[in-house]
Amino acid sequence: MASMQSSNGDSIRMKELGGSRNELPPRKRPGRFTRRTLIIVGVLASVLIIALAVGLGVGLTRNNGGGDEGSSPSSSSPVGPSPTANATSNGTYWQPGVAASWQIALQNPVLITADNKTTDPDVEVFDIDLFTNSNTTIELLHGLGKKVICYFSGGSYEPYRPDSGDFASNVIGKALDGWPDEHWIDLRSQNVRNIMTKRIELASSKGCDGLDPDNVDAYNNDNGLGLTQADTINYMEFLSSEAMSRNMSIGLKNAGEVLSNLTSTVQFSVNEQCVQFSECGKFAPMVEAGKPVFHIEYPKSAIGQVASKVASDFCSRSGDADGSASFSAVMKNMDLDGWVEFCDQVTANTTLVVSDP
Ligand SMILES: *[C@@H]1O[C@H](CO)[C@@H](O)[C@H](O)[C@H]1NC(C)=O
Ligand SMILES: *[C@@H]1O[C@H](CO)[C@@H](O)[C@H](O)[C@H]1NC(C)=O
Ligand SMILES: *[C@@H]1O[C@H](CO)[C@@H](O)[C@H](O)[C@H]1NC(C)=O
Ligand SMILES: *[C@@H]1O[C@H](CO)[C@@H](O)[C@H](O)[C@H]1NC(C)=O
Ligand SMILES: *[C@@H]1O[C@H](CO)[C@@H](O)[C@H](O)[C@H]1NC(C)=O
Ligand SMILES: *[C@@H]1O[C@H](CO)[C@@H](O)[C@H](O)[C@H]1NC(C)=O
Ligand SMILES: *[C@@H]1O[C@H](CO)[C@@H](O)[C@H](O)[C@H]1NC(C)=O
Repeated sequence: MASMQSSNGDSIRMKELGGSRNELPPRKRPGRFTRRTLIIVGVLASVLIIALAVGLGVGLTRNNGGGDEGSSPSSSSPVGPSPTANATSNGTYWQPGVAASWQIALQNPVLITADNKTTDPDVEVFDIDLFTNSNTTIELLHGLGKKVICYFSGGSYEPYRPDSGDFASNVIGKALDGWPDEHWIDLRSQNVRNIMTKRIELASSKGCDGLDPDNVDAYNNDNGLGLTQADTINYMEFLSSEAMSRNMSIGLKNAGEVLSNLTSTVQFSVNEQCVQFSECGKFAPMVEAGKPVFHIEYPKSAIGQVASKVASDFCSRSGDADGSASFSAVMKNMDLDGWVEFCDQVTANTTLVVSDP
């Protein structure tokens, strides 16, 4: 759950919480701090071992242009559309390839004009906020051969979105842990589903190639609505069908416990912190199905350059990173700004539009 996305919401929440972003939970899960502390100790301990045993050259590169070309439609993909997909799709929706290179920037809209001859970084895929980025931005990215995944919260109520007033009060559950103004919503409710259909229509009208609905793993959390894994599966099937019928693909965000139930329903996975939680293996079935795992880690030192030992540990594909082979890994700041570091330790800083237009 790329937790802190969105221009306005982000800064509002930062202020309310009054902390520096490194003290905020980047992922909406209970018990994070305890576990995180243990993990940090574990990382520190294992970094030295890995550095000694394997050397520091283990970081994989970011696979620019490797694997399946992102611009080719699903018909030329090694894995064709799933039964769910081709049951409803009229078009040739985008199936990204394993190890496709990407950037994710949600804090503010990305800056791009007709003068851009390339993007920074020059990756295949941009994951950007559905509401704050314009159709022109998406068109310009397409003009440079990029595919665009549009991010929105699929499983939480955020008070600052343009359609927030459409949520009925009885569909709103408990606050997300660490995000007091953001609440779990009832994935079974028709009210919620109608709102999401409108969001998907907006994505279609803006020209998005894929969708990244966040916060769909309420079952992992004290959601106050009794939501279960089965509810998440059913909801993702609903969202997928809505996306497919509008020729867009869709990803499963985190939710590793139900990933194997949904590998044929979605076209990619978006994962946060599987190395930090030593759970990358839960997401590997997506790669085995010929679909990418867009993978984010939030190393504490990710301000200008991640410490090389930390980066090589995250990118080692072994130890805590076991199971992450062929994942599309990026290291980001928790606020998901324009800065990114890849596993070859190359960094980039996409310019974002800081003030509202
Ligand atoms: C999907 O398409 C294939 C061939 O294009 C067809 O055989 C199959 O029945 C379709 N699946 C569904 C669920 O319609
Ligand atoms: C496919 O497109 C046709 C013509 O535009 C439309 O009538 C039909 O409802 C579409 N089918 C689906 C499943 O979206
Ligand atoms: C479906 O989407 C793909 C990728 O986004 C695009 O290349 C293709 O032209 C679209 N097809 C239709 C019929 O709109
Ligand atoms: C567009 O070009 C500007 C100027 O070089 C750069 O700062 C910005 O990051 C580019 N936009 C994208 C989306 O890469
Ligand atoms: C882009 O959005 C603007 C403003 O919402 C709208 O007027 C315009 O028609 C859209 N362009 C396309 C190509 O959809
Ligand atoms: C998900 O799939 C597993 C087997 O892979 C199955 O045991 C489980 O019941 C499924 N979950 C739901 C909610 O259908
Ligand atoms: C990225 O660029 C922004 C200005 O566009 C700057 O404020 C920020 O400090 C840069 N981040 C890093 C890590 O260099």
